Amino acid sequence: MFLRNLLQASAILPLLYSTTSAQTACNNSPSLCNRAYNNITHLGAHDSPFVRDKTTDFATSGNQYYNSTVQLQAGVRLLSAQVHKVNGSTGEDMWHLCHTSCDLLDMGTLANWLRNISSWMNSNTNDVVTVLIVNSDNATPAQLGAQFAASGINKLAYTPPSTSVVPKTWPTLQNLISNGTRLMSFVASITADSTVPYLMDEFSFMFENAYQNAAPTAYNCTPNRPTSLTTTAAAASSGKMFLMNHFLYSTAFLGIQTPNSTYANVTNAQTGLGSLGTAITSCTSVYSKPPNFVLTDFVNMGPAIASVDAANDVTGAVGRTSVSTAALEDDSTSGVIKRQGNIFAVVVAVVAAVAFST
Ligand SMILES: *[C@@H]1O[C@H](CO)[C@@H](O)[C@H](O)[C@H]1NC(C)=O
Ligand SMILES: *[C@@H]1O[C@H](CO)[C@@H](O)[C@H](O)[C@H]1NC(C)=O
Ligand SMILES: *[C@@H]1O[C@H](CO)[C@@H](O)[C@H](O)[C@H]1NC(C)=O
Ligand SMILES: *[C@@H]1O[C@H](CO)[C@@H](O)[C@H](O)[C@H]1NC(C)=O
Ligand SMILES: *[C@@H]1O[C@H](CO)[C@@H](O)[C@H](O)[C@H]1NC(C)=O
Ligand SMILES: *[C@@H]1O[C@H](CO)[C@@H](O)[C@H](O)[C@H]1NC(C)=O
Ligand SMILES: *[C@@H]1O[C@H](CO)[C@@H](O)[C@H](O)[C@H]1NC(C)=O
Repeated sequence: MFLRNLLQASAILPLLYSTTSAQTACNNSPSLCNRAYNNITHLGAHDSPFVRDKTTDFATSGNQYYNSTVQLQAGVRLLSAQVHKVNGSTGEDMWHLCHTSCDLLDMGTLANWLRNISSWMNSNTNDVVTVLIVNSDNATPAQLGAQFAASGINKLAYTPPSTSVVPKTWPTLQNLISNGTRLMSFVASITADSTVPYLMDEFSFMFENAYQNAAPTAYNCTPNRPTSLTTTAAAASSGKMFLMNHFLYSTAFLGIQTPNSTYANVTNAQTGLGSLGTAITSCTSVYSKPPNFVLTDFVNMGPAIASVDAANDVTGAVGRTSVSTAALEDDSTSGVIKRQGNIFAVVVAVVAAVAFST
């Protein structure tokens, strides 16, 4: 009797175990729960709120085809954005997410974006999310903190033990989740302020390689910011986390840089010249460990998540919603005319060039 119960119990156990482990996935995989925050590669969406879709009339300055919520659902865990001051406005309306300038692309207030992220995090309670704010108009910590507080996301924010000393080791994802401090908030740049202790100055804790790459041969792993770090050896011994920029700009026309979307399927691929997978492999060999964050445009393409899963040794990720890996095209009548117009312009240019050269 006892033996039979034991046998029955042992037959049930694996089932229970697999159910439990599926529930305890952290950032889409049980294998990541006990890894330190800085011993993981986090997939980043560069300029996350700046979408190139029908809501922005397929803005050419848009860096992403899908909004921040869809990015999170697809496995993105770092969202970057630029924050600009709107002169003459007060309160929440003073700080907007704008691409270079608010005349070019304005995605609304910082507080609203944080609300959207907060809402996703509240329905996905086993996920650690990082936001990286580019502080274009030097908002003070109190001003940014007021936006975090207005959105409610400050309740999930992690506070580091020191605002200037790089920790020897960061908490594990499970520690952050259990403590209810699942939001990591970095700002480039900010002076630490004890009244808003969760806002971390990016370059006190991270270094980056160059971001202004306009050719697939241009990427490297050399530190570019903070400027105090000039060699890979200095960057490695600083203990700072490595944010690897990996996105391509179109060749500047009149000095205006726009994301190169036509090449994004190669830029975000796992293999090939200028691919994300190849860049991770080469920087992993430079630093003897994978980058902590990879920042990409058009993150659905590639898909970029495949190279990140490989870097993390993650197979069979759970809880993601897959998104098309295709470029999102404007299929409205005006979009088709615009594309035909572009082709027409190229044809005219080629005909003109041929005529001129003969
Ligand atoms: C990072 O995680 C891997 C995989 O779990 C583990 O083998 C390694 O010891 C960890 N490294 C550090 C420094 O904790
Ligand atoms: C994000 O985009 C999806 C469609 O791709 C849409 O259903 C959803 O409402 C959007 N969410 C936000 C917060 O903008
Ligand atoms: C806002 O005011 C600042 C000076 O306080 C100025 O440098 C900036 O150009 C102004 N921005 C706009 C969009 O007018
Ligand atoms: C936030 O969500 C609202 C809808 O809930 C949407 O209209 C808005 O575009 C989103 N903002 C950003 C920056 O994603
Ligand atoms: C979790 O919270 C407790 C209490 O605030 C704190 O002492 C501990 O250091 C936190 N753990 C981590 C990993 O942050
Ligand atoms: C995008 O990059 C590819 C590879 O360098 C290049 O051939 C193409 O011309 C670029 N597109 C634009 C619009 O600059
Ligand atoms: C990228 O897209 C172009 C145009 O659709 C296609 O010719 C090329 O084979 C694609 N490359 C990869 C790596 O998917």
